[in-house]
Amino acid sequence: MAKQKKAYFCRECGFEAPKWLGRCPACGEWNTFAEEIIVKASSASLAVATNAPQSTPQRVSEVKPSTHQRLDMHNAEVNRVLGGGLVPGSLVLLGGEPGIGKSTLSLQLALTAHGLRTLYVSGEESAEQIGMRAERLGIGNEECYIYSETLLENILHQIEQQRPDVVVIDSIQTIFTNTIDSSAGSVSQIRECAASLLKYAKTTGTSIFIIGHITKDGTIAGPKILEHIVDVVLQFEGDGNNVYRILRGIKNRFGATFEIGVFEMLDNGLRAVENPSEILLSHYEEPLSGIAVGASVDGVRPYLIEVQALVTNAAYGTPQRNATGYDSRRMSMLLAVLEKRVGMKMYQKDVFLNFAGGFRVADTGLDLSIVAAVISSYYDRAVLDGICCAGEVGLSGEVRPAPRSEQRISEAARLGFKKIIVSGFLRKNIKAPKGIEVVYINNIGELPPALFTN
Ligand code: TYD
Ligand code: MG
Repeated sequence: MAKQKKAYFCRECGFEAPKWLGRCPACGEWNTFAEEIIVKASSASLAVATNAPQSTPQRVSEVKPSTHQRLDMHNAEVNRVLGGGLVPGSLVLLGGEPGIGKSTLSLQLALTAHGLRTLYVSGEESAEQIGMRAERLGIGNEECYIYSETLLENILHQIEQQRPDVVVIDSIQTIFTNTIDSSAGSVSQIRECAASLLKYAKTTGTSIFIIGHITKDGTIAGPKILEHIVDVVLQFEGDGNNVYRILRGIKNRFGATFEIGVFEMLDNGLRAVENPSEILLSHYEEPLSGIAVGASVDGVRPYLIEVQALVTNAAYGTPQRNATGYDSRRMSMLLAVLEKRVGMKMYQKDVFLNFAGGFRVADTGLDLSIVAAVISSYYDRAVLDGICCAGEVGLSGEVRPAPRSEQRISEAARLGFKKIIVSGFLRKNIKAPKGIEVVYINNIGELPPALFTN
């Protein structure tokens, strides 16, 4: 029997140490080391590793760009996030909290990628369960194979037999290799399995999606370590109580990083939402107070979102401040600015803040629309129809330009808004598109008249 060898791994970053450490020297996290038994096989373990063709250094000018076409996944949102389709031979990590819909998305991709041979490997569900899910999705595909297996060597053997164009591994935490003695999901297993899959992908040109679970506090090892290995990292996020999901590109060696894809989880799978503004704007019969529309940009994609605020008299000494999907410290700052610069008595008020669709936003360009919603609720006056805002608010109440303001203005114009309120600093360098009036303000004191009068 091979000699037992132990090592300690950091659960956060995968740093390996011969003895237990309280603090990881690589990532600086405390109390993240766990013992694992590792037994490395004597010879280079996997067949694919030894079959790899030898390469020699080349001049950069002599390297021929790959003639491979990007693969069309037949899903506009996924193609967009990947940077225009899937690059053959790429390794894509799809991370997200349990239950968010990673298995659904990846099975749906395997089924809709017509013209490609796909293999969906699940270590979590039986073939029957996957079959039932496929039935629920209601997409048929003769070239899509499903396979329930957890041993990496078997999976690689089957991939070599079947020669699929795209493989999905659901999930990296459930598969293991024989060459290491620690349990599935441990740092060394995840690293070894991912490295073998990477070698396979690069030598054969097969694209592989690896699914990785992350928990809210990031305790399960995996995705963090994998981020260095893979070519593309996608994160699937959303509020479990809501039907909207965002697929976000965190890292992409073949395209823009900050692309997002928006989906809606329906009974029969995920529907791509090509125009997010449509779902994030409600249409009311009568104007309501406390509602404002902000022109936002997530990554490179502009969309308009409805901001709702409720300002009421505080019943207790300390007023409540409650923000859903938004940084509550930033909200406190905006309220303090309103108190000091506009003279609104916010210290007597409870304030609740909410975004349409349960969206989580961190865009500082939405400051102005948040302030607008608060002002509207405070005075109980509805913002005039067809107005939206885009701008950052500073501590002295000055309105600063939001990043990519021009894109926000174009999106507002495209959606038929009549007026957009932006920072006065932009006056010289913005060419307003047709059909929309751009209102420039320098200070939030100028905001109420712009919101309530024509
Ligand atoms: P799942 O893909 O299993 O999540 P993950 O792999 O990220 O853990 O999706 C789980 C949820 O999605 C589950 O609560 C049921 C729901 N769902 C739908 O709403 N519609 C569907 O068509 C499918 C297949 C799942
Ligand atoms: Mg799953």
